[in-house]
Amino acid sequence: MTSFPKDLIHKFTLTPTPFYYYNMELLDHTLQNLRLESDRYSFEVHYALKANANSHILKHINDFDLGADCVSGNEVTRAVETGFNSEKIVFAGVGKSDEEIKTALANNIHSFNCESMQELEVIDQLAGGMNKIAPVALRLNPNVSANTHKYITTGLEENKFGINQWELESIIEKLNSLHHIRLIGLHFHIGSQITDLSAFKSLCIKINEFQQWFSQRHIAIPHLNVGGGLGIDYHDPDGHSIVDFASYFRLFHEFLVVYPGQKVHFELGRAITAQCGSLISKVLYIKKGVNTHFMILDAGMTELIRPALYQAYHKIENITQGSADIQRYDVVGPICESSDCFGKSILMPLTSRGNLIAIRSTGAYGEVMSSNYNLREKVKAYYSDEF
Ligand code: LLP
Repeated sequence: MTSFPKDLIHKFTLTPTPFYYYNMELLDHTLQNLRLESDRYSFEVHYALKANANSHILKHINDFDLGADCVSGNEVTRAVETGFNSEKIVFAGVGKSDEEIKTALANNIHSFNCESMQELEVIDQLAGGMNKIAPVALRLNPNVSANTHKYITTGLEENKFGINQWELESIIEKLNSLHHIRLIGLHFHIGSQITDLSAFKSLCIKINEFQQWFSQRHIAIPHLNVGGGLGIDYHDPDGHSIVDFASYFRLFHEFLVVYPGQKVHFELGRAITAQCGSLISKVLYIKKGVNTHFMILDAGMTELIRPALYQAYHKIENITQGSADIQRYDVVGPICESSDCFGKSILMPLTSRGNLIAIRSTGAYGEVMSSNYNLREKVKAYYSDEF
């Protein structure tokens, strides 16, 4: 049965569907736990806005004094407008436009995570034009496999991200000739939804090797940014509503060699916001197919694209019916695409038109990736502290 209280489900029935519902108490507990476990080692955490950039969510996150990890000029602006300290903003992305770079320079952010030689030259030139020195962290490709979906693996040589080891010598040479750039750190990110922590151990070992390379050349690296990617439990959102931050940060403490005075940074998105969000939808029709019953919802890939794009699993619950009779369903949306399917052959209580369905663990990469395809309305959002 569902973890949603009865009176909340009653309120849901009075609210037009589909919509995202965010449990802000859970978000706050997650943030408390995150702070507790990262503070043990004085680690600095930047929230990855790409996971969910709703202002209301961002305000709660900013209350816990986290930094921000941005991947567009608009994200930098949103973070600053929400009140994030610009000195705690890092700006990543393989294709930063000139305008975006200027926005970040104007806001005096903590660092640009740079991904190529050409990007370094452009940032240097733009910073020169603004009479500034741009703080830069080199995003290095550690060639570590994250054992996750291929679309969200980023740390392999074949991916478009980062600078490869064999390019380092020429990059460092180049840096010496760029006078409006200051090298302040190294940046890594191996992928997303990583549940096998040993991938992070491999990352630490790789970073230690890179650090030796720099130390042999007497190049100081005050900041190490190890990226994000900590995965969550999509199968048991109630049993594991908060990820095991303790083990995650302890692993970095144990395996990462931190030089005196060096600061370690993290960029976490999903692990912070995923579990607090649910997509609430209504059953429009039950249609009998050849081998299955189609449960047709009023939410589709326009509201939540993860299942269509990555074959991602999300727990689907009927929060109206607790019937003991079980039926197999293909849970689908109304969009004109066969990939508009939230789950195939799912065992659920006997469901009828008008029942409410909750698609769980959708607080990260859910609403933020929604679209207006088929001229659908922008999906609405409600928050437990304002509902
Ligand atoms: N840092 C960098 C450089 C990143 O590219 C990402 C995510 C993060 C941090 C945050 O990763 P997280 O802690 O949230 O895993 N739309 C996909 C996920 C794409 C992740 C892209 N980069 C999904 O729905 O699974």
